[in-house]
Amino acid sequence: MKKRVEPMMRGEMTGGATRHVLEVDDLGPDGLEEVLALAERDPAALPRTLEGRGVALVFEKPSARTRNSSEMAVVALGGHPVYIQGAEVGIDTRETAADVARTLACYHRVVCARVMDHGTLERMAGALDAADVPVPVVNLLSDRAHPCQAIADLLTLRQHFGVTGARERSVAYIGDANNVWRSLALAASMAGIPTRVASPSGYGPTEADIALVRSFGGDLVVTTDPIEAASGADALYTDVWTSMGQEDERAARLAAFAGFCVDESLLALAAPGALVMHCLPAHRGEEISAGVVDGQQSVVWQQAENRMHAMRGLLAWVTEVAK
Ligand code: CP
Ligand code: NVA
Repeated sequence: MKKRVEPMMRGEMTGGATRHVLEVDDLGPDGLEEVLALAERDPAALPRTLEGRGVALVFEKPSARTRNSSEMAVVALGGHPVYIQGAEVGIDTRETAADVARTLACYHRVVCARVMDHGTLERMAGALDAADVPVPVVNLLSDRAHPCQAIADLLTLRQHFGVTGARERSVAYIGDANNVWRSLALAASMAGIPTRVASPSGYGPTEADIALVRSFGGDLVVTTDPIEAASGADALYTDVWTSMGQEDERAARLAAFAGFCVDESLLALAAPGALVMHCLPAHRGEEISAGVVDGQQSVVWQQAENRMHAMRGLLAWVTEVAK
């Protein structure tokens, strides 16, 4: 059987390496800058790198923003998005993650997936690399990381503070040190933005997380005190206390996170006019009060829109050298 190859596309890859993006640090600091620049570029001025090509969007979990922003980003680059529910392809139930990836790569220029287990993405990317198939795998959220969200969040911070201004601001994340926190903290560190994280004991970052974030040079303060984290911060960020896949832990988490709600009293301790950020979906009255998420300082809808611009930049980057 003749192996399917794409010599034109392979030639476009930097150093011949496929640009998988499973976590935001896969971009490297320079790549992150390139993606942000592409995201900010007039869509009409972007090369239509997906012209006539498919992009697979596999979802093992629900999504509003990620699915819609990804579909629209694919269309903006001339491509055809194909939405696939996890149960349809049955990763590791109907067939292996490797076989799903190899199959989708027969039709698509990029394979994007939202998965229960981050290791699934690693096996998909590994299978494509082992077979020398130059189709990038992009993480649309896993239990470990949410790189597409972090890119959109950096875009939002820069729109408010400017590129250099953002490096003099601090972003305080109050809540679960989860997938959204990990990618945000990494991306901020790569971009030189100082961050703080406040989580209840047992829900904070691991030593490995802290070391990785700091390895990019960014300042990171870790605490169990939301007041310490929020005081004087230029942005307050939070996310749900119970992520998708953790539903069985909901009661324990509600108890553990008491006192970590981003509400009016916490916001009052932040810098005047501090931004309020949330990746959404939000649970008003749990991790954030309705008055704060729907208030004047909230930029959550700007973050949501930026998901589309960020994805356009990311897809352009994985399919073509950025410069
Ligand atoms: N923020 C985010 O990823 O939203 P969805 O789960 O709706 O895609
Ligand atoms: N931490 C949340 C983010 C949802 C966009 C989750 O994984 O469910």
